[in-house]
Amino acid sequence: MNLKDKYIEFFVSKGHVQIPSAPIVPENDPSVLFNTAGMQPLIPYLMGQKHPLGDMLCDYQKCMRTTDLDEVGDKTHHTFFEMLGNWSLGAYFKKESITWSFEFLTKALEIPVNRLGVTVFGGDDKVPFDKEAHDLWLNLGISEGHIASTVEDNFWAAGETGPCGTDTEIFYFRSEDEIPEVFDTEDERWVEIWNNVFMEFIRDENGNISYLPKKNIDTGMGVERVVAVLEGKTDNYTSSLWIDVIKKIEEISGKKYEGNEKAFRIIADHIRTATFIAADNAGIKPSNKDQGYILRRLIRRMIRYAKKLDIDVNSDFDIELAKLIIDKYKSYYEELDKNKEVVFEVLTNEKVKFNRTLEKGLKEFEKVSNKDIDADTAFHLYDTFGFPIELTMELGEEKGIKVDYAGFKSKFKAHQELSRISSEGKFKGGLAGNSEIETRYHTATHLLNAALKITVSKDVHQRGSNINEERMRFDFNCDHKLTDEEIKNTEDLVNKWIDEDLTVTKEEMTKEEAINSGAECMFIEKYPDIVTVYSIGDVSKELCGGPHVSHTKEIGKFKITKEESVSSGIRRIKAIIE
Ligand code: ALA
Repeated sequence: MNLKDKYIEFFVSKGHVQIPSAPIVPENDPSVLFNTAGMQPLIPYLMGQKHPLGDMLCDYQKCMRTTDLDEVGDKTHHTFFEMLGNWSLGAYFKKESITWSFEFLTKALEIPVNRLGVTVFGGDDKVPFDKEAHDLWLNLGISEGHIASTVEDNFWAAGETGPCGTDTEIFYFRSEDEIPEVFDTEDERWVEIWNNVFMEFIRDENGNISYLPKKNIDTGMGVERVVAVLEGKTDNYTSSLWIDVIKKIEEISGKKYEGNEKAFRIIADHIRTATFIAADNAGIKPSNKDQGYILRRLIRRMIRYAKKLDIDVNSDFDIELAKLIIDKYKSYYEELDKNKEVVFEVLTNEKVKFNRTLEKGLKEFEKVSNKDIDADTAFHLYDTFGFPIELTMELGEEKGIKVDYAGFKSKFKAHQELSRISSEGKFKGGLAGNSEIETRYHTATHLLNAALKITVSKDVHQRGSNINEERMRFDFNCDHKLTDEEIKNTEDLVNKWIDEDLTVTKEEMTKEEAINSGAECMFIEKYPDIVTVYSIGDVSKELCGGPHVSHTKEIGKFKITKEESVSSGIRRIKAIIE
């Protein structure tokens, strides 16, 4: 049995309910592009909301960390990874968490006790030394010398604000050397394999810590790392999890992994991540913004490294690799098989687009790279030849020349602002892109949110939303199926506001001012200190990054096409604008 199955079986046997992995593109959290940890989709529940499946949960969660994108190519970094987790939402705390982790590692995975080392919170002026965790480990049989304590590394939070707590981290001694009596966190032969967070606090924007309504447990174990560690591999890509992908790339390229590691790892990692993003039900397509931009970068970087291995990039090499990934993971993530045609289409279309410009772009790069590349040139490569800045940086580094990254970024920002203004309709016909329709949907979403508070209940709040060019989707809390009358009243009210051609205004203010002004918002703790608030006439006020139309008449006619249940207490409306 593989690690994922063993983990779930173990925690289910201890009374946990397995919950499905949330989509890799978060449905309820506009503050991040991708889920970065198992706990992310569970934040509302860690903050006190009741989870429909109970108070003891476990899962494997698809995660993605974009900060690691440019690190990929070494032995240990990945963009996509799976995180195993078990949670207690006020049901159990340190004793059970530590005891079960110990039992899983030493019994289910049969790791010898003396190969394990742990750290516990060392204590500071706010929170004392975690003697309880220390004593629990000692009683289970971890020797005193293998229990270390730190302050910085034993406090975990998803961000500056929000749920957090002290933690205990579990390490594994990977080397064949004799196991030292004393576990030293600086000694790289000890590798962290699991993190158990005692999530009992919440941190506000002033750094003040107070207690959450309940004492929770949040744990995280990275599948890729643990599989490699347990197999004694220092290069993750040689573990049983990756070996078939590496072999397939050897077969396609006719080259060996040894000697070409960087290119192999980049291709293997990026095709897997691109497959998962493209298969997500959110329908992400390569583009120049947000998740679409990440998807584009992944595919383009993969193609460039395939060229380095002399793979014929006009062949179906990418589809073959995507098929392998889909087969490997489809029994765990059903969207992969369901959306496989979409994945193949995304890969093919992006490849055609990139190939068309790559040759010309590389020639242009050769021309301009006899000296350092300034911001204008980098932007020209991006704008005209579709070179992501990271590609220009990478090519620059290979040639030993500098690229003005900061200058590019500020040009890029200015360009985005211009596109935003244009899609708000101020420079119609100018740069207006295909996001104009999405902008109209975006404003319609705010009107719908406001209307439901009047037509259904003042306690209705947004729980998620998703927009594409064809329709909008809006999830909200509500204890009943909407009646036909409620649906009609909602539709009528939104259309009335549209007809009134209300002005949309944008203001910047501190988060506190925003809350005090009654602005609507989903995850207040995840916003920066200065926030943007959009108001529509005096009917709606919401924290939001925009963009929006400037007057509601630009939205067009609003029509609800469907009302359905998503989960217990959560309803979903699908609507279109005509
Ligand atoms: N949320 C914790 C982590 O990501 C478990 O490490």
